[in-house]
Amino acid sequence: MTKQKHSTRLLKWYQDNGRTLPWRKKGGAHSDPYVVLVSEFMLQQTTVKTVLNYFTPFMKRFPTVECLAAADLEEVYRHWQGLGYYRRAKALHTAAQTIVRNLNGQFPQKREDVLKLKGIGSYTAASFLALAFNLPETVVDGNVIRIICRLYRLMSPIGEIENLIREKASALTDRQHPADYASAIMDLGAMICTPKKPQCPLCPWQQDCLSRGLPELEQIPNRAKPTKKDKNGSVYLIFNEKKEILIRKRSEKGLLSGLYEFPWTDDGSPMVANASDSGLTVLHIFTHIRLTLKIYTLHLKQDISPIDDGFFININQLTDYPFSTLMQKVRIQASALFCG
Ligand code: ADE
Repeated sequence: MTKQKHSTRLLKWYQDNGRTLPWRKKGGAHSDPYVVLVSEFMLQQTTVKTVLNYFTPFMKRFPTVECLAAADLEEVYRHWQGLGYYRRAKALHTAAQTIVRNLNGQFPQKREDVLKLKGIGSYTAASFLALAFNLPETVVDGNVIRIICRLYRLMSPIGEIENLIREKASALTDRQHPADYASAIMDLGAMICTPKKPQCPLCPWQQDCLSRGLPELEQIPNRAKPTKKDKNGSVYLIFNEKKEILIRKRSEKGLLSGLYEFPWTDDGSPMVANASDSGLTVLHIFTHIRLTLKIYTLHLKQDISPIDDGFFININQLTDYPFSTLMQKVRIQASALFCG
């Protein structure tokens, strides 16, 4: 089915079955961005069912962004009681003051400006822009992740396929009706494509869903922690004739940028000739990798670095240079070798 057909079916389902919520208007953006802002803050860590009890009294007491900005934080807290996570109330109050005092009461409509408001991350920025201004932003929350993984039968741990999920969610987003589309996909996740006992026969996307009827449907998405890849490499402690040690600075971009290190490689092949295996190793766990480095030593009879950007320093100066945790481990593990 084409993307257009997907969204037509979802939007039709939403018109007929979508939830009626006090902060929502079907058929386009909400006319009041403040309503969207307050509700999105409340919904950040709280269920719709709970928020329904607090939203209307809050809006009665603070009906406009100006009212909220002028209110005492203590009073905002009083009206937040029951929702918990008071950090959100404080951030909402600060965001309201920024809008009133710095932005002339105008709500920002650019992603980078919305993200500057206190308490707003990429999810809330996307939902705010879609729901308040009908801008083509893609919301990706737990509901959307579940729907996308099931629709395309994505079985890998979600931590490993975040970008793919985001791309697929973005490709499906209806750019003519982003506000309704955002509400519709939230409702599909909350009402039909639920974690347990999904209601596939009622789903507007049932014909295209690659997971429909699978016995393991409830296990999608796969929330297992991504397995860490094992890598083996080598690190080189290279001394010159003055018993100084060779270090280099990493580039300012990328992993461990700007920090200093002993030359090392993680691809298993030797980096310098004639180095001796010290028998020592260092294990370091990165987000996706378990790295084991064998420590090699090399004693040169000269002062010229065999590595492009390396330079020699006295071993007593090692602590003057910022080293990554990985390299600090190497330094500590190998400290006995420095005295020899
Ligand atoms: N969760 C986060 N934002 C929401 C919204 N606007 N409607 C329903 N659930 C939500």
